[in-house]
Amino acid sequence: MRYSGYIGVFDSGVGGISVLRELVATLPNEDFVYFGDSVNAPYGEKSREQVVRLSRSIVDRLLDEGVKAIVIACNTATSAAATELRADYAHVPIIGVEPALKPATLASGIKRILVMATPITLRLDKYQQLAEKWGSGHEVISAPCPGLAARIEQGNLDSPDVSELIAQFIGDYAGNVDGVVLGCTHYAFVAPQIRAVIGDVPLFDGAHGTALQLQRKLAERGLMTKSGDPGIVEFVSSKPGEAEIQLYRQFFEMA
Ligand code: DGL
Repeated sequence: MRYSGYIGVFDSGVGGISVLRELVATLPNEDFVYFGDSVNAPYGEKSREQVVRLSRSIVDRLLDEGVKAIVIACNTATSAAATELRADYAHVPIIGVEPALKPATLASGIKRILVMATPITLRLDKYQQLAEKWGSGHEVISAPCPGLAARIEQGNLDSPDVSELIAQFIGDYAGNVDGVVLGCTHYAFVAPQIRAVIGDVPLFDGAHGTALQLQRKLAERGLMTKSGDPGIVEFVSSKPGEAEIQLYRQFFEMA
């Protein structure tokens, strides 16, 4: 039980580290283990069934190692697998992340909203329901970004090809939307590049909402740590070797 009492956080690769940063900021005394499934990244262009199978095997592994709660730090895996995972593992809190349409639609002065996400997130029912629930009275435009998460996995985000790729997906909306929802946890790492293409509008992501939800669920079940010391953050990858762990640390510490 190597990670007994930790909170397990996972994503296809580096993206969920943007959520992890928010979790640590909100719950600094908790211990976290982050699992990146870099061998199988990206998830966003796989079938729903494949993403469910991969997510389930990560959850099994984290639970075998003793975690007390799970955060699915991936919009794609949350859309594809959260309902099934919560039904099958009802004894553990499982918190997901969803495109931040709710805060975007509640923010003042925002009428036209662009949602960037993986193709599968935008296709699945969960997103359709979210858009129906929060989108009325707003214009919600979906922008699938195939390949963007995979490119972010490679690092070197200041390279011009990253901005060119972003421009391919959202360049047509430049200066013409009031806000952008980052519906994939990878995209938070290219927020400046997205702003450079789309203009100076607010960007919304699900990280903060997820951190608050984790806090609520831990409190409800009496699972909050009693420790007053700073928590531990550990990184594990499905890709063997120290290089991947180094990459995860770089993303965790990115300014
Ligand atoms: N970071 C994930 C998400 O939030 C998955 C991206 C991918 O693997 O395609 O959707």
